[in-house]
Amino acid sequence: MTADPGDGWHALMLAMDLEPGSVAGCVLRGRELAVWRDARGVAHVWDDRCPHRGMRLSLGFLREGTLACLYHGWRFGPDGRCAHIPAHPELSPPATIRAAPWAAVERHGLIWARPVAEGAEVPGVEIGADGHVWTGAWTGVRSLRVGAPAERVAGVIGLAAGRLAGVLDRDVHGAVLAAILPVDGDACMLHVLAGSMAGAARLHALADWARDMRGCAEEAA
Ligand code: FES
Repeated sequence: MTADPGDGWHALMLAMDLEPGSVAGCVLRGRELAVWRDARGVAHVWDDRCPHRGMRLSLGFLREGTLACLYHGWRFGPDGRCAHIPAHPELSPPATIRAAPWAAVERHGLIWARPVAEGAEVPGVEIGADGHVWTGAWTGVRSLRVGAPAERVAGVIGLAAGRLAGVLDRDVHGAVLAAILPVDGDACMLHVLAGSMAGAARLHALADWARDMRGCAEEAA
């Protein structure tokens, strides 16, 4: 099964930007997501909405291997099920109370996610099936918000037509992996990674290049 990151797997953020025991929020085509990493280092992606009263789970905190909601402290395990309700500590919460998990995977220095129907199997992962070799380690350079549509940014930086992630054809300060997360119709996140052999000077130059590309894309928008 081939998974196109543009339509299937979405590159949410640089893996290095999510410390174990932390949670962050991001937006994919207007859909708010909570991304968190448990103490074992495994990344999880859920709808950013507490099943109790809708509080953003990305504002929560980790407690004993669960993600706790900031509002009333309900805790949710890695499978999304509610594990603890502080106001009723003796209660075993029903299985129907659960956050809405997405399929999540960490590859190529990025955290990817795609929607998955409740009870469905997690889809296969073949991220990078774009004709390029993605293997090897990638070092995160930077993520930056661009005030231009994702497809326009993809064209400006030189991604193959119709793709929002890939190894760039042109040599830009060494090997470059770029991935774009559409936030909404007018903005996106551009994630830039370098080949693992990149030194500090190259990383610095690549960060400048990413900023320049943002300028070009926003000018053209
Ligand atoms: S809104 Fe999350 S615990 Fe109440």
